[in-house]
Amino acid sequence: MKTFIITGASKGLGAAIAKRVLGSSDRCILISRTKDPEWEEVASQSGTKFTFLPMDLKETEKLSSLVRDMLMEVDAKSDIYFINNAGVIDPIKPIGNLGQESLETSMRVNFMAPAVLTDEFIKQTKDSDRKKVVVNISSGAAKNPYHGWAAYCSTKAGLEMFTRVAGLEQGKAPFPASLISFSPGVMDTDMQGTIRSADEQDFADRDKFHEYKDQGMLRSPELVAEKLLQLLEAGDLDNGKFYDIKDLL
Ligand SMILES: NC(=O)c1ccc[n+]([C@@H]2O[C@H](COP(=O)([O-])OP(=O)(O)OC[C@H]3O[C@@H](n4cnc5c(N)ncnc54)[C@H](OP(=O)(O)O)[C@@H]3O)[C@@H](O)[C@H]2O)c1
Repeated sequence: MKTFIITGASKGLGAAIAKRVLGSSDRCILISRTKDPEWEEVASQSGTKFTFLPMDLKETEKLSSLVRDMLMEVDAKSDIYFINNAGVIDPIKPIGNLGQESLETSMRVNFMAPAVLTDEFIKQTKDSDRKKVVVNISSGAAKNPYHGWAAYCSTKAGLEMFTRVAGLEQGKAPFPASLISFSPGVMDTDMQGTIRSADEQDFADRDKFHEYKDQGMLRSPELVAEKLLQLLEAGDLDNGKFYDIKDLL
């Protein structure tokens, strides 16, 4: 039995993963602020049970109870695949212009939320002997600096290191979870639209991202979702590792 839990399930990569697993797994728990109206239909065709837990992941003080609510929905014997996918690219501005409020939103959604959710998930499942996989969606920006992306690059870099440490520690746990980072590469989603609409003064590489779109270089989130699910299906994950879509194509 398989349960998928996905944050940021309403759009982009999260929506592509959600649609795929709604059609093929036993149980899905979908988390975002908004809902995709197609979920009901896909789930009813396949017989997958699904629950939507609406949540603004910026509200990090609510996340330990979110994990309790999530786990209450999961069958005691089910394998669990927990995909921390929700993310924001803003603020796109050079340092000196970021502002505390937008920096805080980025840090909460991109770093605090997946870190707190991972911490609580490991705590609340530590005595449970079943397959437990956490995927933290990463980015090339975790490894490389981009002009104007200080918030995004640093939150993704922080999450990548958090995942590496968690993977290392779980090696010694009695009932270990597997944790990986997964870098999906450039995809044709709303996030790329936000990147292309950034002010040129704020984002030096803006034209390059227009070229990616114009030359058809953005991958479809459906293809990336399929590759991620194949990786999870294959099973033999290296705990704490940064997996890159480019190595899976
Ligand atoms: N697109 C790319 O080229 C690219 C490249 C590398 C890495 N990534 C990473 O891939 C992941 C998915 O990106 P995407 O392109 O699919 O993004 P997207 O199309 O902008 O979708 C973002 C998802 O995150 C959710 N989200 C955003 N803020 C939230 C909040 N405060 N609370 C709850 N949910 C929130 C949104 O749901 P609601 O609005 O309904 O809340 C939405 O479902 C992200 O982690 C991103 O950093 C993307």
